[in-house]
Amino acid sequence: MTGLEAARGVKDVKKLPPHVVVLFGATGDLARRKLLPGLFHLFMSKLAPPMRIVGTSLDDLDTEEFRAVAVKACSEFSSRVFTPEAAAEFAETVSYVPQGAGAEALATQVRQELAVLGTEAHMLHYLSVPPMAAMAVLEMLHEADLVKKSRVIMEKPFGTDHDSAVALNASIHRWFKEEQIFRIDHFLGKEAAQNILAFRFANGLFEPIWNRNFINYIQIDVPEKLALEGRSHFYESTGAFRDMVVTHLFQILAFVAMEPPTALAPNPIGEEKNKVFRSMRPLDPRNVVRGQYLGYRDEPGVAPESQTETFVALKAEIDNWRWAGVPFYLRTGKGLADGQRIISIAFHEPPKSMFPEGSGVGQQGPDHLTFDLADEFKVSLSFYGKRPGPGMKLDKLSLQFAMQETEQAGLVLEAYERLILDAMKNDHTLFTTAEGIERLWDVSAPLLDDPPPVRSYTQGSWGPNAIHQLIAPHAWRLPFERIWRNKKTES
Ligand code: BG6
Repeated sequence: MTGLEAARGVKDVKKLPPHVVVLFGATGDLARRKLLPGLFHLFMSKLAPPMRIVGTSLDDLDTEEFRAVAVKACSEFSSRVFTPEAAAEFAETVSYVPQGAGAEALATQVRQELAVLGTEAHMLHYLSVPPMAAMAVLEMLHEADLVKKSRVIMEKPFGTDHDSAVALNASIHRWFKEEQIFRIDHFLGKEAAQNILAFRFANGLFEPIWNRNFINYIQIDVPEKLALEGRSHFYESTGAFRDMVVTHLFQILAFVAMEPPTALAPNPIGEEKNKVFRSMRPLDPRNVVRGQYLGYRDEPGVAPESQTETFVALKAEIDNWRWAGVPFYLRTGKGLADGQRIISIAFHEPPKSMFPEGSGVGQQGPDHLTFDLADEFKVSLSFYGKRPGPGMKLDKLSLQFAMQETEQAGLVLEAYERLILDAMKNDHTLFTTAEGIERLWDVSAPLLDDPPPVRSYTQGSWGPNAIHQLIAPHAWRLPFERIWRNKKTES
């Protein structure tokens, strides 16, 4: 085994049983952009145990046609080196059954693949389908007798409100045991999200100041440049709040806000996250800005009078001792000026009396701790320091760390890769819980029942003007005044 393989934990993989991955929604956007390229990487890097993939979707394709779809997806979207030879080897492991062919046809194909892998083999069903379609797929798995020795990854959003999430949980439990279910939220699989836990709980430096006495407010800001990318059918019935906030942004909020868990294990982490969700105040629609980019209603598949939001910004509050009075400002939307995933922790400002007028103290905002949740994790701490030379002028300076500058940058797994592998290992640590999801829908109920009207914004902006009132007297961190240092481009 090479040093690199050892660092990646290739040895642990040998302990895992082979897997047949049954991919529902196999021709959809997520499968093409992330899941197929991710499975391709796991296959080529030998990080996953031996596996065979059975794709299925509403498209009427045969195996050869689907293999072409898979290879094209890997060549277009894989973030690693792509070679046609490697893709051809991967394609050999892939087969396809149209969902319309029914449960028996799916069962026959899956059993054939299981036979190739031997009696130890397990199944991993990945439901990359909208919430409405999930129940029918689960029923099909039951009918096809593909429940035993299997695990199920369920995509978000999990339900569309509290009642539908409860109903979905109840219906899954008709056929699957809780330990077989992995409710995925890929933001938790991002290397950077796990680094929040490392940063907070593996160091003595920050945890003592991680509370309302030192922190003034927090922003979780995930603007996206991308617009619909052909997903209007999904998006029209989902919108930015259900697609991103009740899922990714609230899960990240829990990692930022939770108490130290008793262990790095599913139950202790789930319990601390759920305590955060239980402490969240129900969302007040007056603290929410919904937006829709101009031109959205002209997109194919979008209703001419659509009220679906493509943007949402809101203030969330956590009513506990650690966070009382500390607002959490969340923002996300499509068609915005930039694509970023930023968490900013703004610290209280000190009294500035000793500095002469015009020194610049406090002029560039408070000290911030900033996490960039990109695959290339970055963190920075900004502070005021003295400008060199005579007098006492102050400038905002920063300490920065970028994963890409380290020798381990190549070991980073993409979020879906990490989480698929965790599900194969039966590790629930980075997955969400039924209780947490149901509580988040409860917190969201006042907004879902009485949503404020959508305000329009131009593509390439930062959202409707009302976002500034929402956050006043503070200001949105983005766009950054000072860009991240980039060692690669610096001379
Ligand atoms: C998905 C949403 O879950 O997350 C998309 O459905 C969004 O609308 C995507 O674009 C963002 O994920 P990432 O990993 O690119 O930040």
